Amino acid sequence: MLKGKISPSMMCADFLELKQCIRDLETAGVEYLHFDIMDGVFVPNLMLCNEIMKQIRAVTDIPFDVHFMITQPEYKTGWFDLRPGDIGCVHYEATPHVQRALQAVKATGATAAVALNPATPISALDWLVDDVGMVLLMTVNPGYAGQKLIPQTLKKISDTRAYLDARRRQDMILEVDGNVSFDNARLMRAAGADLFVAGTSSIFTKGMTVADAAAKLREAIK
Ligand code: DX5
Ligand code: ZN
Repeated sequence: MLKGKISPSMMCADFLELKQCIRDLETAGVEYLHFDIMDGVFVPNLMLCNEIMKQIRAVTDIPFDVHFMITQPEYKTGWFDLRPGDIGCVHYEATPHVQRALQAVKATGATAAVALNPATPISALDWLVDDVGMVLLMTVNPGYAGQKLIPQTLKKISDTRAYLDARRRQDMILEVDGNVSFDNARLMRAAGADLFVAGTSSIFTKGMTVADAAAKLREAIK
């Protein structure tokens, strides 16, 4: 099993205090920064953009975990500054040319990853499993922070881990995104997840410091 790692969801950060937030996340030792790119078409919301990523890149060395919730990602991932050490994740449902989109990510030197919506079967990975270094399982429907876990996704995590083990892909990162609360993170870890998108349910919990929340999340995913 890979080490449990944390990827804070930057759409949940306080944009007016972004620099301090990044310093706090660095102090907490988070492994990635998760950027949700939403186009208002693939998901019913608009979020984050290449300009905010550029400004954040200038003030931190934490690698980026970029989650493209956009249609036709094969034409658009190139608009973003992906680098070796980053992760670029496209949705299986977003294009009939998912493999082409993964190739575009790979060409940047970043790890190519595929995301599955809650209702997308694991068999969607059948012809992609050799093309990616990470699988992202959505544990809520994509588009918004602050939603409730879709309970059957817990079984989907363990089924996906078994699917990957059967294909000798113990090295594959398995990321979970959506309502990764302290309690849910514990269950998700037990089910085989190793990269945790931390949003309003954990690292950005109201009334809690990032340092305390990160420590509590670390404890849940160890
Ligand atoms: C969507 C986002 C959200 C969110 C996670 O891809 O990544 O899932 O910010 O934070 P929660 O669900 O804890 O608000
Ligand atoms: Zn996300």
